[in-house]
Amino acid sequence: MRRAVVREATRQSDASQLVLTGTPEGWQPSILDRALSYPQLRFMGSKFRLLPWINMVLRDLPFETALDAFSGSGCVGYLMKAMGKEVTANDFLRFSCFVAQATIANSRVRIGKETLRDLVDGPGSDQRFIEKTFRGIFYTPSDLRFLDRVWWNIHALPKGEERAIALAALIRSCVKRQPRGVFTVAGDPDHYKDGRRDLRLSLRSHFIEQVDIFNQAVFDNGRLNRAVNQDVFRLDPSGYDLVYMDPPYVPRADDNCYVKRYHFLEGLVCYWKDVEILQETRVKKIRKPYTPFSYRRNAEEAFDRLFALFSGSILVLSYSSNGYPDLPILVKLMRRQKRKVEVHRRPHQYSFGTHHAVERDKVEEYLVVGT
Ligand SMILES: C[S@@+](CC[C@H](N)C(=O)[O-])C[C@H]1O[C@@H](n2cnc3c(N)ncnc32)[C@H](O)[C@@H]1O
Repeated sequence: MRRAVVREATRQSDASQLVLTGTPEGWQPSILDRALSYPQLRFMGSKFRLLPWINMVLRDLPFETALDAFSGSGCVGYLMKAMGKEVTANDFLRFSCFVAQATIANSRVRIGKETLRDLVDGPGSDQRFIEKTFRGIFYTPSDLRFLDRVWWNIHALPKGEERAIALAALIRSCVKRQPRGVFTVAGDPDHYKDGRRDLRLSLRSHFIEQVDIFNQAVFDNGRLNRAVNQDVFRLDPSGYDLVYMDPPYVPRADDNCYVKRYHFLEGLVCYWKDVEILQETRVKKIRKPYTPFSYRRNAEEAFDRLFALFSGSILVLSYSSNGYPDLPILVKLMRRQKRKVEVHRRPHQYSFGTHHAVERDKVEEYLVVGT
């Protein structure tokens, strides 16, 4: 009997009934089983719960090569990998890129028991940057000491997929142990006495679990898949039959800043090397990279440039009714590049933690397809 492929990651999805407890030799998961087994991050704007619908729309389109241009948690790129496509996942955040490298680009490499033991119990280094910088802000002192040690042990691995799996596992561990999954407010998990397992488990225990989960996410679809870390406008647009675009939307309220919420993960993957910490901020945020999709005054022009850049490919845009610009404007912009533009719609409810509470936004979700 083989280990279950579909596991914990399906818990919050419609597919929770798919949890398998042992599967026969030679069993091949379906595209959706595979996609919904993805170790999803609690990531703002994640399309994880929309994967069945996205799959239904994508499977009718003629494509072999695809770009997930704003990959975020990586789940849509992983769906396309499960569909057997040659996938390139791109995001300008480094931590997103490591997750995509571990799950999408990686076809074969897993972390073995001995390597895991070296990562967890190896000597690390005498550097204590994380403990010194984030004491009293995030996590417990022993979690922070673990992060310093494991980071240097991960750094001792050769660059490549093994390192990416370890970093992806560490990223997901940090999100799970963080009370609301975001890094906007300080707070040690031990102060939340709500009994959640994710808050009770140390970062060390999370990491051991997550390495196993990312190991199980590895599969080979027979294609050469890639993970890229670029501003979308710097990408070479050639070579993609289809480009899936899920940029941040300028929201009607609050903001859409990923770095404000995930700065700790972005700093962690490079041990805060070459990033500027804003020392005056309580949670030690880092400076955010510029993206035109965050600003009302630039968003429309940014979509226009985006569609023009990838005009040689089938365009698939994820969008939602709470974003700016409005849907008719986006359809008009896409029509400048494409003869046929179709809009698929579906109601959706996003939820993610903020400093106020867990927000639940009821919206209509769109897939705008230009062919
Ligand atoms: C809505 S999220 C994508 C969510 C993703 N589809 C998922 O399901 O997890 C938008 C992503 O765009 C990235 N991003 C924003 N501006 C970018 C740019 N100019 N170039 C590349 N990536 C960008 C952000 O870092 C963020 O991960």
